[in-house]
Amino acid sequence: MRILSIETSCDDTAISIFEVSGGIQSASFKVLANNSNSQINIHIPYGGVFPALAKREHIKNLPIILETCLKQANFTPAPLLVKERGLRKGKIDKPPIDVIAVTSGPGLEMSLWTGIVFAKELAQKWKVPLIPVNHMEGHIVSVFGKGKGKFKLEKAKMPMLALLVSGGHTQLVLIKKWMQYEIIGESVDDAVGEAFDKVARMLGLPYPGGPEISKLAETERKHLKELEDSPTPGIGEFPYPRGRGKISLPRPMLHSKNFNFSYSGLKTAVLYMIRDLDGLQNIGEKTKRQIALEFENAAIECLVYKTQKAIEKYKIKTLIVAGGVSANKYLHNEMAKIIKGQNIKLYFPAKELSGDNSLMIGIAGYLNYIKNKKKVPKLDSIKATGNLRL
Ligand code: KG4
Ligand code: ZN
Repeated sequence: MRILSIETSCDDTAISIFEVSGGIQSASFKVLANNSNSQINIHIPYGGVFPALAKREHIKNLPIILETCLKQANFTPAPLLVKERGLRKGKIDKPPIDVIAVTSGPGLEMSLWTGIVFAKELAQKWKVPLIPVNHMEGHIVSVFGKGKGKFKLEKAKMPMLALLVSGGHTQLVLIKKWMQYEIIGESVDDAVGEAFDKVARMLGLPYPGGPEISKLAETERKHLKELEDSPTPGIGEFPYPRGRGKISLPRPMLHSKNFNFSYSGLKTAVLYMIRDLDGLQNIGEKTKRQIALEFENAAIECLVYKTQKAIEKYKIKTLIVAGGVSANKYLHNEMAKIIKGQNIKLYFPAKELSGDNSLMIGIAGYLNYIKNKKKVPKLDSIKATGNLRL
């Protein structure tokens, strides 16, 4: 069967078309089309996503991306050519699509609604079922999509633990049975990706801040390593505790007796540090790199430590790290270290699946469709839920 999936939960407008077959744990997906539009450049001046603008861009781009996908999948002539604002009125040909999947939450409600309204309109015109998909479940299943253009889900050993890290979420999710989720810990305030973005802004770096901070941190980490290895380090630069610079930041809730996280205090600590250094204008590039490094070390240490504790407590056999922050190289390396020598399989998403995308929504949509024996909710009942839980 063929499935069309739509993702508009934040600032990416994305649509994919798959050919799908197989059961829940053996499904295989062939990508027929996959196109998206990132709004990053539009939101840069605001230092974050501006919801009303995001909505406007989704509405503008959805029909254009759909048309591109239909052409790419060779469903020509494209049945719904678009004039700027939405689907063509009147009778349209139905492309060979059997099911539509759309993100229904969590995310920005204004953005989510644009995808849902668009998906409902298509579902009605084409008379096909519509499956609402939880964006976080999408991130979880995204790690099983391997290979270029073709994915085959692997059988993973239970229990699984998923660390979900994005601009809106920091969660540890226990999975004892396929597609059954228990959130065992989460951030009590800001999400880790949000902290990366806000600290980047404080350091005068563009949105999204995660990759920018990470680049600076990586340069400084490499520099410190060279100093450590050098027989004649520069005066005043060495030695610091391994992997650290001069700068020191807290690790909030590191030793709390639960699996929760907190990132608001860490972010504020950076704010005060910059203030104590007489403001950003008085901070040199080197100090910026040191702050970025110490921030990344602190942020990732909390994630890794709690994940390790959860692995021990629940005797985890499969570890999943997903969401936008899973693109972080240091997180990748540190996670690989904690499972070393243990019989645990570690999954990260492929690069093209780590940020928001519609492929993961198609995969999760199909799995839900099969799990619910092809029963779907009534169209009218499908709505955007900004704080939808797993
Ligand atoms: O999952 P995602 O694409 O969107 C949400 O659902 O939020 O995650 C976006 C977040 C942003 O906060 C971004 O700064 C962060 O992921 N991010 C990173 C890296 N790449 C993206 N954070 C740290 N290191 C990275 N390399
Ligand atoms: Zn996401």
